[in-house]
Amino acid sequence: MKAAARANTNIALIKYWGKRDEKLFLPMNSSLSITLDRFYTETSVEFREELKSDVFLLNNKPAGEAEANKVFRFLDNIRKLAGTKMYAVVISENMVPTAAGFASSASGFAALAAAGVKALNLNLNEKELSILARQGSGSACRSIYGGYVEWQKGERGDGMDSYANQLLTEKDLDICILSVLVESNQKKISSREGMKRTVETSPFYSGWLDTVEKDLEKAKEAIRNRDFQSLGETAEANALKMHATMLGAKPPVLYWQSGTMEIIHQVQSLRMSGIKVYFTIDAGPNVKVLCLPKDEQKVSDTLMKLPAVKQIITCHPGSGITYV
Ligand code: DP6
Repeated sequence: MKAAARANTNIALIKYWGKRDEKLFLPMNSSLSITLDRFYTETSVEFREELKSDVFLLNNKPAGEAEANKVFRFLDNIRKLAGTKMYAVVISENMVPTAAGFASSASGFAALAAAGVKALNLNLNEKELSILARQGSGSACRSIYGGYVEWQKGERGDGMDSYANQLLTEKDLDICILSVLVESNQKKISSREGMKRTVETSPFYSGWLDTVEKDLEKAKEAIRNRDFQSLGETAEANALKMHATMLGAKPPVLYWQSGTMEIIHQVQSLRMSGIKVYFTIDAGPNVKVLCLPKDEQKVSDTLMKLPAVKQIITCHPGSGITYV
């Protein structure tokens, strides 16, 4: 009763920000992401009759209590689907350096869902797997698929219509996503906490909800037309709008550092010089910079010259779940 799976992380171009149901991880808005080719989690799950409790090893060590409890709660969902009471040993290898500014929860829960389901021989299709992964971390439902992925928020209370689907494969449209790391010693507010606070207290949140679905339509059209400029412009504006909603929260949520601003201005000035280059930022100080493969070197070299930039890791669109 053992299986292993690998899932890549993803970066949202139209952000998921806010939940309508925290227990089921149902989002307030639909979102769109690119699954990446560089950062992944590989997880094996083995259910065994003789175990008296679940075990979770992360990067060769027993995971911390909070992290482990999230995984054990998630295993309960899989056990329920299979009608079993068996406990499991979960071994995860995270190739998502926290310092890279990518949340590992997306690849983590996507890999756990896929491996857990396969270990118990449950026959779930990708949609059902996406619904399951969503209940570990919202953005995980998008990492089931490769390439360009949309997560439809759904309307139902039980979440059965809130899942992701693929818009384009990773081979259909190549772009560069530069993960630009900045100096920071900030104490992190998790995206979970940041979005909750924003929904509950920000007077700007209604403006987000009024416009985010239009942003999504624009981004989807740009992807259909392979229109990189329109996709980049839409993604950048959407990210800025998400951060604007947080600034209105009480107390405010500000993820940016001075280095974040330096990169933003440098991207704008590269754009003034005629290069199609855009940025997006998640719940942290690092910046993801989008450009066409032909401009990668120039963009990367220019950004690397900024004193606040520590490291740049270049990614491309990557694949969905694979079994190992
Ligand atoms: C800013 O999926 O990490 O990266 O559902 O609470 O686990 P939970 O949150 P998570 O939030 C991701 C927020 C974001 C935007 C995005 O990926 O769409």
